[in-house]
Amino acid sequence: MNTNNIFITNDKASLDVFKDTIEKTSKAIIEAYNNDKAYTGPQPFDLKKAVKGSILPDNGLGFDKALENAKRVVLPNFVRTSSTNYMAHLHSATLIETIAAELIISTFNQSMDSWDQSPVATEIEVEVVRQLCKLYGYGEGSDGIFTSGGSQSNTNGIFLARDWFCKEKLNWDVKKFGLPENYRKFRMYASEISHFSMEKSTHMLGLGYDAVVKVPVDERQKMDVAALEKLIEKDIADGNIPFCVVATVGTTDYGSIDPIEKIADLAEKYDIWFHCDAAYGSGAIMSDKYRSRIAGLNRADSITVDFHKMFMMPISASCSLIKDAKDFEPFELHADYLNREEDEEDGYTNLVSKSMQTTRRFDALKVWLSFQCRGKDGWNDLIDTCIENAKYVYDTLEHREGFARTCEPELSSIVFRLYDKNLSENENDEVNKKVRRALIHKEGVVIGQTVFGGRVHLKFTLINPLTTHEKLDQLLDLIYSLKN
Ligand SMILES: Cc1ncc(COP(=O)(O)O)c(C=O)c1O
Repeated sequence: MNTNNIFITNDKASLDVFKDTIEKTSKAIIEAYNNDKAYTGPQPFDLKKAVKGSILPDNGLGFDKALENAKRVVLPNFVRTSSTNYMAHLHSATLIETIAAELIISTFNQSMDSWDQSPVATEIEVEVVRQLCKLYGYGEGSDGIFTSGGSQSNTNGIFLARDWFCKEKLNWDVKKFGLPENYRKFRMYASEISHFSMEKSTHMLGLGYDAVVKVPVDERQKMDVAALEKLIEKDIADGNIPFCVVATVGTTDYGSIDPIEKIADLAEKYDIWFHCDAAYGSGAIMSDKYRSRIAGLNRADSITVDFHKMFMMPISASCSLIKDAKDFEPFELHADYLNREEDEEDGYTNLVSKSMQTTRRFDALKVWLSFQCRGKDGWNDLIDTCIENAKYVYDTLEHREGFARTCEPELSSIVFRLYDKNLSENENDEVNKKVRRALIHKEGVVIGQTVFGGRVHLKFTLINPLTTHEKLDQLLDLIYSLKN
């Protein structure tokens, strides 16, 4: 057995292997960035064929040959998220310094469950969380935890909401006894275009999809707060039990922001938990010009902040912030082999006591490094450019023939449609679908598709600050040219 190529250790031979491996890998990555397209790989059935083959030979191939295979099959077929031809989803490119952070994270492989697995990483996460709480306007006594993504941060918030409500309002300890008898009457409110992690969460939490009451949105795709109050009142009259309301701060398709302050007022009035799903909109905090659009976030009991969307960091990176650290109690459970009670007394923080995950990545390092690297001014420019690009597309579409717009963007997404008044609505739907597919496979351009008002629409999710107005004009020209 060759012991030099197993781990990086203080042995010179292993350090040389590490260096060589990283150098060859970065060379292969650099070679893969050989054009500006977002996708140059095959169509789905051909791609399935291309990846077929044994991955476990009798005798190991060694790194060089395995890397050659990756260079042949994998690297050329990635979507290139940093391409300005990529704007399909809330799926960002990765800031270069955060790629460096990922290398550090996976090399040292700290696990965030207990202090003895991640001493400095634990203290850094605690410090990053403390500063994030401050950034989002939370006071003393707030806390948070890094999670795998927006879905898990949302589940966290809703889980803590359920247990808080049961304990405070029903004098019932879910941790000990499971759900109370009347759990089928529990109701949570979220807009009709909220993320599907709402339903996934209530399902996993034993409350089912029916616990999610969908509140209509207005023409700007923001929650109709008068309708929300009526729905709460109706539920109370019907004997149901409202326990939580969720504001979406940046909807997945439109980037629309629910009226945070007004929803907070209702949450206070009805004494229910207020969760903000700011997976997308949390990035606006970095913009001096647009921060006011997410004002009121600090009134939420829990906030989802994602760093792998507008903050452009590698997957995974998300944080679940909680206004009152005491509400983290449902996660607390001591195990003799991991997070002994006496540890806490002696200053050994075991973050597993606040987390759904046990083994957990040191994602906080990406935030720590990148915030320092770019500073307030650097971040401000990145976020402003993205938000202003969406507004540019909205404004320019007003004067373009053959397009129909939807609502004015508040963040960095814009939904629109190719529209020919001489065609039926169904025919227009087909044109939009056809154009999106042609963009991927003929032009190497990947844009989004969604449904608005029952009709197929196209979507630009503009979270790449390298995208220029000229580029957006060219893309709109291209889209128009593909309709026939
Ligand atoms: C509004 C919103 N919330 C939550 C999520 C889920 O985030 P993740 O994909 O990180 O789980 C998304 C994903 O796009 C989203 O748009």
